[in-house]
Amino acid sequence: MPPIAPNLVAAVNEARHWQDMMAMAELGAFTDPDGHIGVNRPCLSDLDRQARRLLLGWAEKAGLSASVDRLGNLFLRHEGTDPTLAPVLTGSHMDSQPNGGRFDGIWGVIAGFEAVRALREAGVQTKRPIEVVAWTNEEGGRYAPGCMGSMAYAGFAPPETWDAITDREGIPFGQALTALLESESDLPRRKLGVVEGPAPFAYVEAHIEQGPMLEAREADIGVVTGIQGSRWFIVDIMGKSDHAGTTPLAMRKDAVQDMLRAIQALNTLMHDPADVLRFTVASIEVQPNTSNSVAGLARFTIDFRHPDNAVLQARGNAIEGVIQAALRHCTARVTERFHAVPADFGAVVPDAVEAAAKSQGLRHMRLPSGAFHDAQFLVPICPTGMIFVPCRAGVSHHPSEHATPEALAAGTRVLAQVLADLANR
Ligand code: GLV
Ligand code: MN
Ligand code: MN
Ligand code: MN
Repeated sequence: MPPIAPNLVAAVNEARHWQDMMAMAELGAFTDPDGHIGVNRPCLSDLDRQARRLLLGWAEKAGLSASVDRLGNLFLRHEGTDPTLAPVLTGSHMDSQPNGGRFDGIWGVIAGFEAVRALREAGVQTKRPIEVVAWTNEEGGRYAPGCMGSMAYAGFAPPETWDAITDREGIPFGQALTALLESESDLPRRKLGVVEGPAPFAYVEAHIEQGPMLEAREADIGVVTGIQGSRWFIVDIMGKSDHAGTTPLAMRKDAVQDMLRAIQALNTLMHDPADVLRFTVASIEVQPNTSNSVAGLARFTIDFRHPDNAVLQARGNAIEGVIQAALRHCTARVTERFHAVPADFGAVVPDAVEAAAKSQGLRHMRLPSGAFHDAQFLVPICPTGMIFVPCRAGVSHHPSEHATPEALAAGTRVLAQVLADLANR
């Protein structure tokens, strides 16, 4: 690690950084019944477009050059002294959960921007270019699954994979993406990641922890060691809609009743005395969704996660059989729509993060990520890592999500130093 540049750390401006965060948080702001100010900024929405424009304005002032790829991934480039070298990439996402907070995702983008701005203001030159990226649709809130931008960038799936997926209004992803790209036709179009161009030198993503560990241990910085695996399924239970007053129970094909049997059986399959496994059913739709008609269709989602790939594969692959065996009157269709194997960040980036935190006198700890992130998909293509900062009570995906200006600035100072380190290798 090169000696710490004190002027670089000082150039990260806590007040300005917080101001930028709060300005972004106005785009999609809402107040929940408890008075918490949250953010609902769906990917590829008007609000998303406005947020990107706001960032682009700041970037232009700072002297960064912008470009966009065919998936809508947005890049801001700080030139290196050798522009031919592979860049160091940093960033996260600007879309939010529908009932989301002001920090998840957006902080990683603004932290990358503030870190690069600080580098420039401090006159710290880097051999390699540094690029700040805002990945398209990390959350999967409007269009499931999440991480589409990073998956396409890293070659996990062809870029057209999700074009026909519709949101709740029936608007296809491909159509919303085309509209976004048209509205940004003033930006140069760049090649799509490793599919059409070279790999980055390294990737670092800053993010709030979204869990309670850093706060509980009074640590300023989380040195993230990896990310657990995730699999998402959508299950359709198909029965027959009938009159609720006239149809005897024995003659029904009630999709809700069979859905309940299926979920109960899945709870047994997913039982884990160690409480490491994560199994969530959290989105349910019923048709025709009236109280006096038997449900003809019940659709529910499964979010299943585990850090051990053997468990992720074995239990994930058992899901369909367990559902089929649990049904009494209906049939089921199980579709897997997201599959991310556990990611191990190895040594390169975590060691750089730890060294930077140490040299700045910050309390730090190593920990894995329970949430998935775009970083997961960068692992096979370049050295990758993440920097976590504590968030209040570990709460995330909720309007009460909160991180302090000091915590964010500390994370951004570490990020700035890590970027300077990696971009001079
Ligand atoms: C990301 O938002 C996740 O669900 O882990
Ligand atoms: Mn996020
Ligand atoms: Mn999230
Ligand atoms: Mn996420």
